[in-house]
Amino acid sequence: MTARVGILISGRGSNMQTLVRAAGDAYRIALVASDNPDAAGLAWAAGQGIPTLAHPGKRAEREAAFDAALRDAGVEVIALAGYMRLLSDDFVAGWRGRIVNIHPSLLPKYKGLDTHARALAAGDAEAGCSVHVVTEELDAGELLGQARVPILPGDTPDSLAERVLAAEHSLYPKVLAEFVQR
Ligand code: GAR
Repeated sequence: MTARVGILISGRGSNMQTLVRAAGDAYRIALVASDNPDAAGLAWAAGQGIPTLAHPGKRAEREAAFDAALRDAGVEVIALAGYMRLLSDDFVAGWRGRIVNIHPSLLPKYKGLDTHARALAAGDAEAGCSVHVVTEELDAGELLGQARVPILPGDTPDSLAERVLAAEHSLYPKVLAEFVQR
């Protein structure tokens, strides 16, 4: 069975693009939605013929609009891809066990923001990214997969972010395909 996946983004959407490009037998992208009408990823998705939705309003209204559109589109699994808003407990409960997220750190290290600066400040030898199930607790749900990259001498948060992002692009489609089939 091919799973129908909805993706939530807030900006560039490079992870969303890799998920769209890797879609096939395991999953198809049925909707891309954003809290940000100017998200570059939204225009890209629309250009691919994927239904899109932007809702910049208050969280309760936005999530109600997302929920209705996701259900109308027959979505079974939601993939967060650079969605930078906290989801409400109600929204998470309504999709229990069916929302996944990619986070730019080796969880449980560095939940939340500024992950690359924090890894550098800690003197870590490696960094990476994690795909996990979304629960009410921030960046704390079941880990589905991780990818590691070295931290190199002279790295800045930006140079490290670029290396981690490349690892994200390899990891997320693979883990999502496994997740929707389990
Ligand atoms: C990615 O690095 C993703 O891991 C991160 O935002 C970036 C989005 O880039 N997500 C988070 O920090 C979530 N807390 P993209 O829009 O190009 O995919």
